[in-house]
Amino acid sequence: MDNTESFKKKKIIVTGGAGFFGSYIVAELFKKSAIDVFVPRRSQYNLVEKEGVVRLLKDHPADYLIHAAGTVGGIGANRANPGLFFYENLMMGVQLMEEARLRGVQKVVNIGTICSYPKNTEVPFREESLWCGYPEETNAPYGLAKKMLLVQSKAYREQYGFNSICLLPVNLYGPRDNFALDSSHVIPAIIRKCDEAKEKNEREIVCWGDGSPTREFLYAEDAAEGVVLALQRYNSSDPVNLGTCREISIRDLVRLIADFVGFNGKIVWDQSKPNGQPRRCLDASRAEALFGFKALTSFEQGLKRTIDWYLHSSRRPEQVVK
Ligand SMILES: NC(=O)c1ccc[n+]([C@@H]2O[C@H](COP(=O)([O-])OP(=O)(O)OC[C@H]3O[C@@H](n4cnc5c(N)ncnc54)[C@H](OP(=O)(O)O)[C@@H]3O)[C@@H](O)[C@H]2O)c1
Repeated sequence: MDNTESFKKKKIIVTGGAGFFGSYIVAELFKKSAIDVFVPRRSQYNLVEKEGVVRLLKDHPADYLIHAAGTVGGIGANRANPGLFFYENLMMGVQLMEEARLRGVQKVVNIGTICSYPKNTEVPFREESLWCGYPEETNAPYGLAKKMLLVQSKAYREQYGFNSICLLPVNLYGPRDNFALDSSHVIPAIIRKCDEAKEKNEREIVCWGDGSPTREFLYAEDAAEGVVLALQRYNSSDPVNLGTCREISIRDLVRLIADFVGFNGKIVWDQSKPNGQPRRCLDASRAEALFGFKALTSFEQGLKRTIDWYLHSSRRPEQVVK
């Protein structure tokens, strides 16, 4: 049942609420009449440390906690930091849920990841397949750290009657995404490459892998709507995918972005670099059936908005050499 009105009286914490995805979740909460939303910054409350988690919930007693903080990045960042990604994501999630339980938080929403799925999951990925194998090696430490929250959520519901839910958004994109060279995901990385090559009149761009893997992308604003709908309407520890069910190969994605950005040069594939998981495409029917979530932004529309934002953003790197 919808309890949109009751957001007005609820105290809500959104960890990671100043980050890319978290900022969309905060905006969606305000859209749905929330008033009291607190966003802890890492500099104030380091949630990897137990002390930071305890202090956060002491300083800001909450009815709901949406955990959207994370230590994240693309394949390169995951490969360079497997230990850090494992430790920080695990410690943040496990400690937050424990402290939320002890402090009487009514509900926790955990933002998980499809990197938790086994490497060779049958497509489309259904939630029942989550435990059928080991994740793709480059993102396994990150994916498995987040996956432990599924176990914690179920165990806490069983033993303590604690209400937490776990959502698994597919790869997100949209305005305000991270375009940093060392930590961006594939869409911002390709947009930036195409834009810089065009500005410098370069004849080619080099992309990782062979272009054969497929991915699915969800517009961050749509995903945030899914998170808030789940907060309103869903109360079970069974994980739920958030996606669009549209699969695109990296090769086609790069062509589409190059076209939208106006880069006409050659696309070279560096096959010494990893492809990552071979295919990714979700079955998103559970989210629609359980809490009425359906993503409405078309991929082309979302991509154009993202590119437009980047090209006109103050975050666009100034140092492009012409
Ligand atoms: N981006 C995607 O494609 C995607 C897809 C599926 C799931 N997710 C999940 O969505 C969440 C957000 O991802 P994102 O892409 O939005 O990342 P992001 O932009 O890097 O934001 C991460 C946020 O986490 C906070 N954070 C990190 N370490 C922290 C710590 N030790 N203590 C307190 N806060 C900390 C940061 O706070 P400060 O700003 O204060 O540093 C930042 O606001 C992650 O859990 C990720 O697994 C993302």
